[in-house]
Amino acid sequence: MMNVLVTRPIPGNYLDNHENFHIQIFPGKGDVHQWIISNIVDADGILITLNEKIDREIIDHATRLKVISTYSVGYDHIDVEYAKSRGITVTYTPEVLTEATADLIFGIMLAAARNIASGDSLIRHDGWHSGWKPDFMLGSEVHGKTLGIIGMGRIGNAVLKRSKGFDMKVLYYSRSIHNVDAEYVDLNYLLSESDFVIIALDLNNETFHFMNYERISKMKKSAFLINGTRGKVVNEEDIVKALKDHIIRGAALDVFEDEPIDSKNPLTSLENVVLTPHLGSATYETRDKMAETAVTNLFNVLNGKKPLYKL
Ligand code: DGY
Repeated sequence: MMNVLVTRPIPGNYLDNHENFHIQIFPGKGDVHQWIISNIVDADGILITLNEKIDREIIDHATRLKVISTYSVGYDHIDVEYAKSRGITVTYTPEVLTEATADLIFGIMLAAARNIASGDSLIRHDGWHSGWKPDFMLGSEVHGKTLGIIGMGRIGNAVLKRSKGFDMKVLYYSRSIHNVDAEYVDLNYLLSESDFVIIALDLNNETFHFMNYERISKMKKSAFLINGTRGKVVNEEDIVKALKDHIIRGAALDVFEDEPIDSKNPLTSLENVVLTPHLGSATYETRDKMAETAVTNLFNVLNGKKPLYKL
């Protein structure tokens, strides 16, 4: 019998009917890190989400672990190199969440530019007294504007596809040049020319705090910054300061440095930012596909087969 740890219940019934495996799910109370440390010693596989940090301490407690399967495309919460050096396969769930994440990124960009979230909030807080007025709640046009995409991986590409329907001119900056219908440019040029700057970068040592005050200051005063991949790619203190100083017109953030954030976070007192709680992949369809992919990855490795996606 092989032992599998699961840190959170996941959608669908993909974990059912695996008779040869003893599946133990974190009961939900207490410290999950501690629970993993206490149980990893006999585990053959572990299924985690992006909330659970798999560090050296955990890996050192494992004696027979073969696979770490993360229910996420991001893997900055796992010490991948160390796991691999110990012969542990690390799997993840790319591709299945690309389109949902790009939809959300495009959505929050529209919400910030066209006051969709603030308009909703105004009505709910009894603030719409004037009726329709020529100068009421004016926003920025998205159609025909210049979009700057930083990072041209799967998500950057999916955002690019959406921008075509809005007749946007698209600039991009990335580690390498891609064969896409957009202009590859220098980062400073992208920042200074774009009306909307979308961050589509993974988090790693090179991208930590990639967007800081200095870079934000290079953007147009009328521009918007949108982040839907990882919070730590943007220096949060710097974006707060830039929004307070009106260095740019606005921002839309789905991800934050330390999640969850609450109403004490300084971002929540700013009107020129749209905030959503890490909803990029949060559709019924995508979360189900992520479950299927993460479970297939896990059991494939344990059954001696190739996982769908490994790092
Ligand atoms: C991931 O899978 O890394 C995403 O951030 C989830 O939305």
